[in-house]
Amino acid sequence: MYNSKITGLGYYVPDNVVSNDDLSKLMETNDAWIQERTGIKERRHVVKGDGDTTTTMGVKAAKIAIERAGIDKDDIDFIVFATLSPDYYFPGPGVLVQRDLGIKTVGALDVRNQCSGFIYGISVADQYIKSGMYKNVLVIGSELHSHGLDMSTRGRGVSVIFGDGAGAAILSREEDTTKGILSTHLHSEGQHAEELSLIAPGMGKRWVTDIMEDNDPNDESYFPYMNGQFVFKNAVVRFSEVIMEGLNQNELTPDDINLLVPHQANLRISQFIQRKFGLEDSQVFNNIMKYGNTTAASIPIALTEAWESGKVNSGDLVVLAAFGSGFTWGSAIIKW
Ligand code: UT7
Repeated sequence: MYNSKITGLGYYVPDNVVSNDDLSKLMETNDAWIQERTGIKERRHVVKGDGDTTTTMGVKAAKIAIERAGIDKDDIDFIVFATLSPDYYFPGPGVLVQRDLGIKTVGALDVRNQCSGFIYGISVADQYIKSGMYKNVLVIGSELHSHGLDMSTRGRGVSVIFGDGAGAAILSREEDTTKGILSTHLHSEGQHAEELSLIAPGMGKRWVTDIMEDNDPNDESYFPYMNGQFVFKNAVVRFSEVIMEGLNQNELTPDDINLLVPHQANLRISQFIQRKFGLEDSQVFNNIMKYGNTTAASIPIALTEAWESGKVNSGDLVVLAAFGSGFTWGSAIIKW
């Protein structure tokens, strides 16, 4: 039995910065509302034609993570790719990463757990490493939201929140089982699946052929929908529960946390959790102000920035937690 540890981290965001004022030129919104309700000041949007896709951003982040892990692409035994915004309906981006990075014909798994996708991804990777099956697993979270959002006033409750970007981690075998990923906890509650969802096109309620037949310019079924207040209320409860679940499992308490890196859903959610666990500002890493909510990419981007700024050191207890569409939620307790 082994543990897995994060040996390399990387992120990539597109250059194009979109401020709240930029959005207010497209829809009825304003900087004060967005900052007050979400904490977001700006986000990144891919510019059409620049060549960035969910996969290419993931590849850029992965290259940095691989280099920092001090391994070669040929050392990667498995790929896990978490996204809700894949390049293609199928195949998923995992195989595109295998191709674009020129990795051997290792397995490539696509994870569909939205904001919790990265935690689900590292949980899968961790199990493969713990069992001894693999030594190095590449886990990517990447999203290209901007070209799938309703940028009119109708969509403002969703479209001001989300941004584009990618983060990646290499998980490697660790023989010292007191170090690395101590535990992960995953949950779902499909009862609320439609409260944060993109229904069409799909093979359930709105088929591609339905959309084509209707040819309705006011069709909003292919834009994401979010019941914001309901999601918010569930998020604060589930974030708290799943962090405590992880701490309890390891006989730890909130006092043991050196750094909490929450999924960047809303600054108010992070602040609520911070207060609940009695953490100082320096113990919670937030960058939603710069990037908005990048869904599966938000934790690996934030963790990379935290690591780059010297906030993650050997021996630290680092807690990751996420909640989002599904509903799904999860946590990871890591001894760095
Ligand atoms: O990452 C996955 C998990 N996601 C989350 O956890 C997100 C959870 N939810 C939220 O973060 C918040 O609910 C939002 C930021 C989405 C919305 O904030 P809110 O405080 O819940 O606002 P609201 O939806 O209740 O809307 C309040 C008002 C409404 O107007 P009326 O009905 O009071 O006249 C909205 O129409 O704000 C209006 N509004 C806006 N106004 C300006 C909604 N979006 C905007 C906007 N700009 N962009």
